[in-house]
Amino acid sequence: MPNLAKRTLRMAKIIGGNSKKDSIVYSISMRECFVIYVQSIIIGIYILFKNAVFYIRSYVDKKFGVSKKRIIRKFNVLSSITDKSSKNRINGTKNNLNRSITPGTHRSDLGEHKFIRIKQTRFHYVEKGEKNDRVVLLLHGFPDCFYGWRNQIDILSDQNHVIALDLKGFNNSDKPLTYCHYKPDRICYELKCFIDALQIKSFCIIGHDIGALLGWIFTLKYPDYVNKFISISTPHPNLFWNTAKGSKMTNFWFNMIQIPFLPEMELSKDNSFIHETYKHLIVNGSSNEINESKQSILMETYDYVFSQYEDYSGGLHYLRNLRLCRVDESCLIRCPCILIFGTNNSNFKLDSAIRSAEYCENPLIKIIDGAGYWPHQTHVDEMNKILLKYLVGEKKSTEEIESSSPSSSPLRKGLMSRVMDKMYSVGQQYVV
Ligand SMILES: *[C@@H]1O[C@H](CO)[C@@H](O)[C@H](O)[C@H]1NC(C)=O
Ligand SMILES: *[C@@H]1O[C@H](CO)[C@@H](O)[C@H](O)[C@H]1NC(C)=O
Ligand SMILES: *[C@@H]1O[C@H](CO)[C@@H](O)[C@H](O)[C@H]1NC(C)=O
Ligand SMILES: *[C@@H]1O[C@H](CO)[C@@H](O)[C@H](O)[C@H]1NC(C)=O
Ligand SMILES: *[C@@H]1O[C@H](CO)[C@@H](O)[C@H](O)[C@H]1NC(C)=O
Ligand SMILES: *[C@@H]1O[C@H](CO)[C@@H](O)[C@H](O)[C@H]1NC(C)=O
Repeated sequence: MPNLAKRTLRMAKIIGGNSKKDSIVYSISMRECFVIYVQSIIIGIYILFKNAVFYIRSYVDKKFGVSKKRIIRKFNVLSSITDKSSKNRINGTKNNLNRSITPGTHRSDLGEHKFIRIKQTRFHYVEKGEKNDRVVLLLHGFPDCFYGWRNQIDILSDQNHVIALDLKGFNNSDKPLTYCHYKPDRICYELKCFIDALQIKSFCIIGHDIGALLGWIFTLKYPDYVNKFISISTPHPNLFWNTAKGSKMTNFWFNMIQIPFLPEMELSKDNSFIHETYKHLIVNGSSNEINESKQSILMETYDYVFSQYEDYSGGLHYLRNLRLCRVDESCLIRCPCILIFGTNNSNFKLDSAIRSAEYCENPLIKIIDGAGYWPHQTHVDEMNKILLKYLVGEKKSTEEIESSSPSSSPLRKGLMSRVMDKMYSVGQQYVV
């Protein structure tokens, strides 16, 4: 009941038009912050200790040729929880990569590479397609860069004006090292300035991972700018932390990264994190990313993009900030919102998509069979088909569905019936 009152108040404010001053993003309670920080400090001490043992052990091994197997075994158990990388740290060629050599030789055919300075930050973006009203902004995740959209840029640019952005802190955009540069409010404001600078009035956001989280927040903050929001494999920011499953994305990991410096150092030590993340690029046979030489070039490109300390600090700062924030639950996304999830997503269960749809007035859930967390890279054809279908001339069908749905006001109904409505409209759109 108080929730409903709050929501009504919020709606009244929106209608009254003085919602601009409120920030939609607020921070979690002091108690929760405290718990997260305490955990992160404990994990930090543990990592330092583990590294100390690692160095002492290798020193002892070198000096006396004795292998202290018992200690090693004991620590491998623990290290497999925090840090999968320690096992294959043998060939850490990462930092030896020469920055003046650029792999990714096929970068120029993706579009025009441009730079723009917004509020003292230089952004790099790739633009393709004729300048028209249908603008699509592609926001990548972590660890990724504009290049993660290599399979989409070309196809979407046939009918759309595609902009693939390197988010602040990634690849060729500036990488400020301080935490406060990556506050969601600030990032969204800069994105708005970026869009203003390109003289774009409204656009569609396609986001994945961090990019999608920022997309959710941006769409709620600046609803007039966004005409469609597509979130790939990523639930609503408030659900992101609570519905995560699997080993990589546990809250433990997220809490661990609150410690400064250490996570960056751990990740940038070698390329095992990148290789673990991009396992999906190495597939046999009829994969979309074709033959082996191409696969190794792709991997090399990512190794290169994430080869130094500062390549990681931006991405981790986003997560550090987002972890301590929540979004005002009473705000709904008003534009059509499409949630694309794979059935084999190792990070989130499908029901997180359904629960995220609760935060949209006009949701549509698309399921890709067998796809994991990176459907835009592994299931390229299905993905592009969905994107094209809903980017080109789809406004009509969503309006039709809205008018035929049994209730168009989310305020009047209880939670359960709203869920049923959502399912109903989702089902309907499936039929369409
Ligand atoms: C890294 O190590 C693995 C096994 O330890 C080996 O198969 C691979 O060739 C090595 N890679 C490089 C670049 O040395
Ligand atoms: C990197 O490459 C440049 C030119 O190719 C070379 O001059 C430089 O010595 C290389 N640096 C390292 C550390 O290999
Ligand atoms: C990929 O194919 C090679 C031979 O072409 C085979 O040895 C390897 O086991 C296959 N890997 C997977 C994951 O199927
Ligand atoms: C693999 O792909 C590269 C680049 O796309 C191409 O040059 C090469 O011929 C291909 N190799 C095979 C065996 O198909
Ligand atoms: C940014 O990404 C592109 C494509 O992957 C790559 O060619 C380029 O070297 C990267 N830049 C940096 C600074 O890592
Ligand atoms: C699902 O993902 C796991 C790895 O995360 C993989 O081993 C398995 O083959 C995938 N299943 C399908 C149906 O793609």
